[in-house]
Amino acid sequence: MMILSIALSILAGLAYAKICTDITVPVNINARQGVFDVPALRSNIDASTFALNFTSIKFNFTDVALTGYQTVTGPYNISAQFCRPDIMDKTYWDIEFNNHGYSYVDRAIAKGFCTVNIDRFGIGNSSHGDPLNLVQAPAEVSATYEITKMLRAGTFPTVPHKFQKVVHVGHSFGSIQTFLLSAQHPETTDGIVLTGWSANGTWLGQTIAGWNLHLARLNQPLRFGGTIAVDACRASPGSQGTNNSSSDATALIEQALATVGINLNRQEAWEETATTELGDILNGINATSGSAPQDLPTGYLTWADWTSNQYAFLYPPYYDLSLALFAERTKQPVTLGELFTLANGAPATTSFSGPVMVLTGREDTIFCGGDCLATGNLGGNIPKMAQPMFPNASVFEAYIQPNTGHGINFHYNATGAYDVINDFFIENGLGSS
Ligand SMILES: *[C@@H]1O[C@H](CO)[C@@H](O)[C@H](O)[C@H]1NC(C)=O
Ligand SMILES: *[C@@H]1O[C@H](CO)[C@@H](O)[C@H](O)[C@H]1NC(C)=O
Ligand SMILES: *[C@@H]1O[C@H](CO)[C@@H](O)[C@H](O)[C@H]1NC(C)=O
Ligand SMILES: *[C@@H]1O[C@H](CO)[C@@H](O)[C@H](O)[C@H]1NC(C)=O
Ligand SMILES: *[C@@H]1O[C@H](CO)[C@@H](O)[C@H](O)[C@H]1NC(C)=O
Ligand SMILES: *[C@@H]1O[C@H](CO)[C@@H](O)[C@H](O)[C@H]1NC(C)=O
Ligand SMILES: *[C@@H]1O[C@H](CO)[C@@H](O)[C@H](O)[C@H]1NC(C)=O
Ligand SMILES: *[C@@H]1O[C@H](CO)[C@@H](O)[C@H](O)[C@H]1NC(C)=O
Ligand SMILES: *[C@@H]1O[C@H](CO)[C@@H](O)[C@H](O)[C@H]1NC(C)=O
Ligand SMILES: *[C@@H]1O[C@H](CO)[C@@H](O)[C@H](O)[C@H]1NC(C)=O
Repeated sequence: MMILSIALSILAGLAYAKICTDITVPVNINARQGVFDVPALRSNIDASTFALNFTSIKFNFTDVALTGYQTVTGPYNISAQFCRPDIMDKTYWDIEFNNHGYSYVDRAIAKGFCTVNIDRFGIGNSSHGDPLNLVQAPAEVSATYEITKMLRAGTFPTVPHKFQKVVHVGHSFGSIQTFLLSAQHPETTDGIVLTGWSANGTWLGQTIAGWNLHLARLNQPLRFGGTIAVDACRASPGSQGTNNSSSDATALIEQALATVGINLNRQEAWEETATTELGDILNGINATSGSAPQDLPTGYLTWADWTSNQYAFLYPPYYDLSLALFAERTKQPVTLGELFTLANGAPATTSFSGPVMVLTGREDTIFCGGDCLATGNLGGNIPKMAQPMFPNASVFEAYIQPNTGHGINFHYNATGAYDVINDFFIENGLGSS
């Protein structure tokens, strides 16, 4: 879910088509990290026990689990997609607009930026690792730092261009990491935009509770477990591009329940397959042609289903239900180590001296408790209250995107938000030249 995007401004022009390449980038990670002691999770019940621990006011569980610190180093791969404008292709608006209506990359490319999107270290097609003591925020920030240096030095694989200006756009956990990057290496970035973020951690507990954490490998065994789908042709609510209420899976559920005397109508049977964990279990059923199941260790966790996804990330009715099914089908897990380090260990301020924007959906539940404007008599908005963390920023702007939950990119007006971001860079001298 939380992809750290790095936008680079080099090329000029308007309405370009894009050329994208998938690249595996070898990086040497070097990070000081926490060493935590948590018993290996064996089941969904253990995952729930962890959530109880993590959210309890009885103790600070991060501190209970922390046994010390260590420096983590080593070579790992980061999976990246590099995109650049291509003025030769005339078909841009005919094809890409329809297929990528929610694409930040398309919006940025249209304004002449090049972009790099990366899978976080430990997630997706990047190197995986010990979810407790290796895959933590500091290692992920280290990977982003190394990639940024490559872009500036002209050593990023297959892109022998020395980018003079590099800006960073994070989302959620990616925004937390972007803040850390700017604090540790203020010279490495020319501008930062933190989307889906505020400095107010009040709602972290309810977020973790609302996720109803389960083991990723059990939640979507066909993507994250070790199970290979035998029948790759069976339609399901999570399968690519379909929501056929007559799909085999829904019909099977209807029939199976009828045999034990539970008679659901088609709509009810669809609810059972699409909005509960059963829908997640079916996700990946058609993925045998693509990637093999990742066989993730049990310290990789995820929220339970579409309804917990909506609670954390989506604001109805301002999102397309089909897109939510897509989001659930393509979601990525979170590690124990990330949960321990996402809110802890960060410095109070960054000395970064370039422009900073925070852009958060007004109805963000995770960072605003459901209303970013609910500041009582304090004025402004909740994300704006982070301004003291950026004392040396040349510009600080907090923008509240209307009718939008935490997952900005999944809402109908996502492109409205993208334009605000890219215009911010351009207005601050970081546009294409
Ligand atoms: C939960 O916390 C208790 C008390 O510290 C500990 O004994 C137990 O191992 C923890 N379990 C998990 C799964 O976090
Ligand atoms: C909880 O413990 C961690 C690790 O010691 C620490 O970084 C964090 O500041 C603590 N949180 C609170 C709210 O005290
Ligand atoms: C990185 O990926 C390449 C293949 O693209 C592989 O040969 C190499 O072993 C990987 N390195 C690590 C550290 O996983
Ligand atoms: C699953 O894959 C099969 C084989 O490629 C294809 O015929 C079928 O339409 C796919 N089903 C869905 C729901 O995408
Ligand atoms: C849904 O699937 C059924 C049987 O699998 C098929 O007969 C029907 O045409 C499909 N409907 C749509 C709208 O695709
Ligand atoms: C990850 O790799 C698999 C196969 O190796 C590929 O099918 C998939 O498209 C890749 N995903 C991304 C996001 O790069
Ligand atoms: C899928 O079909 C069901 C049953 O007809 C319907 O209730 C639901 O709204 C549809 N979902 C989407 C995402 O179109
Ligand atoms: C901001 O810049 C001033 C002058 O360069 C410097 O003294 C100060 O330490 C910086 N503030 C932070 C938080 O780094
Ligand atoms: C978080 O925001 C709420 C609502 O505006 C406010 O009451 C609370 O004081 C804030 N907490 C922090 C730590 O900023
Ligand atoms: C879409 O987002 C833009 C940028 O925030 C905003 O100006 C516009 O009013 C929004 N449109 C709707 C329909 O909410």
